[in-house]
Amino acid sequence: MAGIVSWLPDAPGTERNLPVFGSASPIRKVTRQVAFEDGWDAERREKIGSLFDSMADEWSKRATPEREAALSDALDRGNIRGGRVIELGSGTGAGTRALAGRFESVVALDLSLAMLQNASPALGGRVQGDSSALPFPDGAADTITLVNMLLFPREIDRVLDANGQLLWVNSMAEETPIHLPPEDVLAALPGEWSGVAGRAGTGLWLVAERR
Ligand SMILES: C[S@@+](CC[C@H](N)C(=O)[O-])C[C@H]1O[C@@H](n2cnc3c(N)ncnc32)[C@H](O)[C@@H]1O
Repeated sequence: MAGIVSWLPDAPGTERNLPVFGSASPIRKVTRQVAFEDGWDAERREKIGSLFDSMADEWSKRATPEREAALSDALDRGNIRGGRVIELGSGTGAGTRALAGRFESVVALDLSLAMLQNASPALGGRVQGDSSALPFPDGAADTITLVNMLLFPREIDRVLDANGQLLWVNSMAEETPIHLPPEDVLAALPGEWSGVAGRAGTGLWLVAERR
């Protein structure tokens, strides 16, 4: 179902002309299949889990202020209400660091144990799990955050509180390998949603809620 996205003006210093990177990545197709066609199975879980396990030791070197700007801009301008946040696909915790202190509780979940082992335990709970079948009860989160992470619409809809907010971030905007335009994020979610979106640094973000 198509939802309405209201775009804020770009934050000062936003970089829009990024070199081609993620738009040429094969994971782009997987991203759309997972969001729109239920395209996740045991073989894909194994392949993607091993891929990210193999990158875990080097992953935190990718964090730069330009890439981290979109998440902090969303936290500043996205009218996030706080409460209990669950971050899916948290990697080595670059996003979790920004969330800690802004929410009452923070849980970071990732498929890759190696990624979680490289994340700080001081930031909140760390859970190894698959976002296609989350180990949380219905309505367990006031905010679900995804930074450069595959969108699993059904589980987000189940675990997000009725008045909850979904925070979607692509730290290299359209050149993030795991990218969906904010309009497509809303379209993939069950039911009717609307959202506020913005750009900062090299990235873009969306804060979505049910209408
Ligand atoms: C592109 S990385 C992003 C990591 C981190 N959010 C960041 O921006 O630095 C994607 C992360 O999602 C995790 N991931 C992929 N599929 C997943 C799934 N089904 N459930 C949970 N995590 C998953 C990967 O292990 C990886 O850590």
